[in-house]
Amino acid sequence: MALFDKKKKSETELPENLPQHVGFIMDGNGRWAKKRGLPRSFGHREGAKNFKKIVRYCKDIGLKNISFYAFSTENWQRPKDEVDTIMDLFREYIVDVRNHLSENTRMIFLGDKSIFDDDLREKMIKLEEDTAHYTEMTLMMAVNYGGRDEIANAARILAQNVKDGEMNPEDINEESIADCLYTRGIPDVDLVIRPSGELRLSNYLIWQCAYAEYYFTDILWPDFSPKELDKALIDFDGRHRRFGGV
Ligand code: FPP
Repeated sequence: MALFDKKKKSETELPENLPQHVGFIMDGNGRWAKKRGLPRSFGHREGAKNFKKIVRYCKDIGLKNISFYAFSTENWQRPKDEVDTIMDLFREYIVDVRNHLSENTRMIFLGDKSIFDDDLREKMIKLEEDTAHYTEMTLMMAVNYGGRDEIANAARILAQNVKDGEMNPEDINEESIADCLYTRGIPDVDLVIRPSGELRLSNYLIWQCAYAEYYFTDILWPDFSPKELDKALIDFDGRHRRFGGV
């Protein structure tokens, strides 16, 4: 295994074959707090801190596309104070984002933004526009995101295009569907990392994960460290991906 990049800051020797897109499911915040006798909201605060740490590390080691599942279309069912805390964390992050994101990082929000307050939505869109030309790394945060919802949305866009005479039903294919997803232009997910011991995808990027590899660990998200990410990347490097072939 060769060192892949001079600027890499990992203590571990990382493989050259890094995934093009790593998806993180930030699970286990609630349990992290409960184990310490704290309210669940504390767990989300720690989770948001760890998100920042891991994003920086991903940039340092040269990952190109990283996405984080921060809030699903189903998460609105949680207690109001918990939802409020997570929304506050988004707001705080967006205000502070320039201090966190180093130069040349593009930011995209995956999900249906129409549900958010106008000011929050406008800030999200402005951030996407302001960073659209950056090329070193793309950071995606999934908020009010659901994989089925995303595909239904793509179907609506394509149906409207057909209705407007802009395309024919026969033109609908995998490529035209992918072009209507929030991840348009972003490579499919190669590696999904889910901490906290749960072994499922939970409606995360279900189209884009069609051929993804999975890395599960019992560690809870606030404790998920750069070292653990190194382990996942080395594990990924050892997988034999066949994409349906032999
Ligand atoms: C799942 O853990 C986590 C969430 C539903 C929310 C994740 C949100 C954050 C980490 C903060 C987002 C903000 C920024 C700025 C990234 P869980 O609560 O379901 O954990 P549990 O399974 O242990 O209860």
